[in-house]
Amino acid sequence: MAAHSDNLKYFVREIEKNDGRTLKLKQCYMGDVGCVVWDAAIVLAKYLETKQFYEPSSGVNLWPGSSVLELGAGTGVVGLMAATLGAQVTVTDLEDLQTLLRLNIQENQALISNGSITAKVLKWGDDVSEFLPPPQYILMADCIYYEQSTIPLVESLKLLSGPETCVICCYEQRTEGINPVVEKQFFELLQQNFSCEKIPSDKQDPEFSSPDIHILHIRKKVQIC
Ligand SMILES: C[S@@+](CC[C@H](N)C(=O)[O-])C[C@H]1O[C@@H](n2cnc3c(N)ncnc32)[C@H](O)[C@@H]1O
Repeated sequence: MAAHSDNLKYFVREIEKNDGRTLKLKQCYMGDVGCVVWDAAIVLAKYLETKQFYEPSSGVNLWPGSSVLELGAGTGVVGLMAATLGAQVTVTDLEDLQTLLRLNIQENQALISNGSITAKVLKWGDDVSEFLPPPQYILMADCIYYEQSTIPLVESLKLLSGPETCVICCYEQRTEGINPVVEKQFFELLQQNFSCEKIPSDKQDPEFSSPDIHILHIRKKVQIC
């Protein structure tokens, strides 16, 4: 009976990893935008597996042991990918997404060996002290999409980033409605304190990339006093 009602509530998105294993993400038929896996999340998750994250001289993979915080994680696919690669991950989202995040962590636990993953509530603009010291990486996929969020989101990035933090932001550039205005506002505000490096498509996953989905490495500008 429980399995039957579960099937009515969820449908599964599978993401194949480069090691041949598969992440399985439950998505809800009903709920807010975070209840499904967005294309930007797949592009970012697959990017985490690329050569970019190997030390060029030694060939050592950079993920094992690194600290990762994901913002607006939704189903948790990006954070889960990082955890399977060995990172110590905290995935965050609003209270409403916690059940789905925890369910997906549980479903994919067998794929995580030397990494770890925990789900927590973080509403952009709220107190971030629980998530400090600054992580090495902050990941965010498809988080730039509504006007009221830009100021609190940039504020959270400012509070959560240290001099060594690399924010990896993946977003789909949308040309309709309010989206171009929101994007412009977000990047104008962000660039007051951060610099952005766009990752070219030849450095992304060869299959999972798209001309309208961008990946940026964002770093806090050094303050010169
Ligand atoms: C478009 S969804 C993207 C979800 C996921 N990153 C993906 O790409 O599949 C945006 C996510 O941001 C979260 N979000 C929106 N406003 C937020 C806020 N003020 N604080 C924290 N998370 C927020 C939503 O709950 C949702 O999970």
